Amino acid sequence: MKILMVGGAGYIGSHAALCFYKKGYEVLILDSFVTSPLFNPDWATVIKADFADAQALDNVFKNYDISAVMHFAASTQVAESMSNPALYYENNVAKTVLLLNSMRKHGVKSFIFSSSCAVYGNPEYLPLTEEHPKNPVNIYGKTKLIIENILEDYSDIYNDFNYVSLRYFNAAGALPEHGLGENHNPETHVIPLALEAARKGKEFKIFGIDFETKDGSCIRDYLHVVDIADAHWRAYLHLKNGKPSEVFNLGTGKGVSVKELINSVQKVSGLKINAVEKERRAGDPPILVANYSKAKNILEWQPRYSDLDLIVKSAFIYHNMNAHNSVKNTTVET
Ligand code: UFG
Repeated sequence: MKILMVGGAGYIGSHAALCFYKKGYEVLILDSFVTSPLFNPDWATVIKADFADAQALDNVFKNYDISAVMHFAASTQVAESMSNPALYYENNVAKTVLLLNSMRKHGVKSFIFSSSCAVYGNPEYLPLTEEHPKNPVNIYGKTKLIIENILEDYSDIYNDFNYVSLRYFNAAGALPEHGLGENHNPETHVIPLALEAARKGKEFKIFGIDFETKDGSCIRDYLHVVDIADAHWRAYLHLKNGKPSEVFNLGTGKGVSVKELINSVQKVSGLKINAVEKERRAGDPPILVANYSKAKNILEWQPRYSDLDLIVKSAFIYHNMNAHNSVKNTTVET
């Protein structure tokens, strides 16, 4: 019942860690705390270390009976990956191989990997199924695909090793009542940036209005992090029950354009956004929407908290809370 959450102090990892804690698991969070220096939960054992630190991993695997490793730690900015590939291949590929090999050395057999819809690249059909060709258009996506391929080889060749790879579409939303939410530095993600623009009266840039979409802006599939956390729990049970290694899409099947998102932020916040139309951002596919039937059929998972306005409301309260230090309930329960 002890779960190791590598990168469990980050945005998605922290929500998943809380989900497991609430379900009665003992949660160990191994994180460098470089990007989340203030995260200090009293409900988890916290180990401050780089996830490729061989000595730290030896200590964790020797001192705790770990039943599964969930790997959330990664560099995640698409634009940065295109200017600094070395960082992405080191953090997302080389270090992950070291983590996998340390697990093997200590006989830990179950691995749940945070993958991404970025592995698909530009869609040949929609919604995207897991079988869709994998032609990532950015280096971030390539690093996720490389690890997926490595996991397939490990699982094929090492009979006792099993994994689930979860291809997240656009993780969004927050659990403000637990102080958890999206807070990257620098922030590049659309919902926090739109909320900041609304609150501070700053300009919000729409990256591209000439895509072949219903209103010309990019379409994404926004999924509440609590739904992602729930999928991790189901993936864990899948492996624990001796089921085979699998790859699953995690999305809602509903596409939301950047302009629709702006409308939702304005509606939920009651604030006006000063949106300006800009050039496309490099590496942005025009539409990414998931077919999540496989996760529904095999994991019995489906999104429950991913209504767009609810996602935006939870993020709005979280960002206001950071600004004004007040917490309200968002009706999301783990
Ligand atoms: N966008 C804007 N203005 C902004 C920020 C974003 O218009 O200021 C647009 C983007 O062009 C994109 C959409 O909003 O169309 C979503 O952008 P995000 O940066 O929030 O998210 P991405 O879709 O680029 O990235 C997400 C994850 C990545 C993952 C990727 C897969 O954050 O980790 O999906 O494509 F790789």
